[in-house]
Amino acid sequence: MDERLLIQEAFAAMAQAYAPYSGFCVGAALLTAGGKIYRGCNIENAAYTPTNCAERTAFFKAVSEGEREFAAICIVGGHDGKPAGYTAPCGVCRQVMMEFCDPQRFRVILALDEEHWKEYLLKDLFPEGFGSENLQSADGCA
Ligand code: THU
Repeated sequence: MDERLLIQEAFAAMAQAYAPYSGFCVGAALLTAGGKIYRGCNIENAAYTPTNCAERTAFFKAVSEGEREFAAICIVGGHDGKPAGYTAPCGVCRQVMMEFCDPQRFRVILALDEEHWKEYLLKDLFPEGFGSENLQSADGCA
């Protein structure tokens, strides 16, 4: 996959951000294992806590369409369409990635523009993450 395309898609997603309270617009482009891209933007709310991050918007769109396997996500964030440094995913979004992605293989790409980006594996951004495997040995506590 060409990182440039994923970065372009993340910027296109950022243009749809609804961020009237923070003014910080985020775009995410989520690449499925099959090569499809789902865009997501942050969607804020006057009550603040219902705000949804761009990454989770992308994941929830994809999962609700039947996707379950993912290869990479690209994230951009800033004001007025201009990146304000590298935007890393928040902890809640990392947990959502953990639910659907192999931390050893899932790539998280943080971009400033098409020439400047850096890449991590989920395992390095979210070490020892809690996942479905942690529940497999559960017998119940009641
Ligand atoms: N935000 C995201 O969309 N993704 C992140 O990983 C970090 C934060 C959004 C949420 C809120 O609308 C704004 O950025 C400021 O926190």
